[in-house]
Amino acid sequence: MNKNLRKAVIAGNWKMNKTRPEAKALIEELKPLVAGADCGVVICVPYTNLETALEATKGTNIAVGAENCHWAESGAFTGEISAAMLKELGVQYVVIGHSERRQYFGETDVTVQKRVRAALDAGLQVILCIGELLEQREAGITEEIVGMQTKVALGGVTEAELKNIILAYEPVWAIGTGKTATAQQANEVNHYIRTVVEGLYGKAAADAITIQYGGSMNAKNAEELLDQPDVDGGLIGGASLKAPDFAAIVKAASR
Ligand code: 13P
Repeated sequence: MNKNLRKAVIAGNWKMNKTRPEAKALIEELKPLVAGADCGVVICVPYTNLETALEATKGTNIAVGAENCHWAESGAFTGEISAAMLKELGVQYVVIGHSERRQYFGETDVTVQKRVRAALDAGLQVILCIGELLEQREAGITEEIVGMQTKVALGGVTEAELKNIILAYEPVWAIGTGKTATAQQANEVNHYIRTVVEGLYGKAAADAITIQYGGSMNAKNAEELLDQPDVDGGLIGGASLKAPDFAAIVKAASR
């Protein structure tokens, strides 16, 4: 990555894993391993673990995020959590538009845009996920797909607000499959996404935005991926559930 322009951010996405005692134990193990890291460190955890995580990370360099939020301020939306509720807890980040939300819970580019708006309005920092399916890559339309996802999700986001957004390129075929994009594939798409941001907001904004890669990033392949000029960090699933593995990725980003 271009360290002169951007600071790397390594974010864990725990997905639907860890009870509260398990979460506490993982964070306690992680804290000393990532203390003093020269990159941003974030853990995005299930709603039920947010308070535990906030308490356990107090006074550390680990920031806490949620994995989703609803677009409405409040109301009759059974099972949903608002951005204001997260903010009030002390949560700093929220993942929006993860491919698992899109695949299994009917999330669309339009609902992603609404959630991004709500999160920004509540004062949260957004980790906005985009990425193509395998058949889309095979059809040669990766750029069209990630370009459209980016443009729709950022609809209505001002240049000033862009500072509160991290983009995460996660090719769906690489998530949880052990099938990582090559460093070159990751860089190519991240670079393309940066050109889309440049088209919308200009070069300075495009140079400044953090664009992560996510999809089977682990302790072994992190260094090569993070060495790419347009890969500014990672969104880590499976490997974020093991403190030594996550810490190794943080270390790779801190070099
Ligand atoms: P894995 O690292 O388990 O492939 O998951 C990536 C991901 O979806 C992070 O949001």
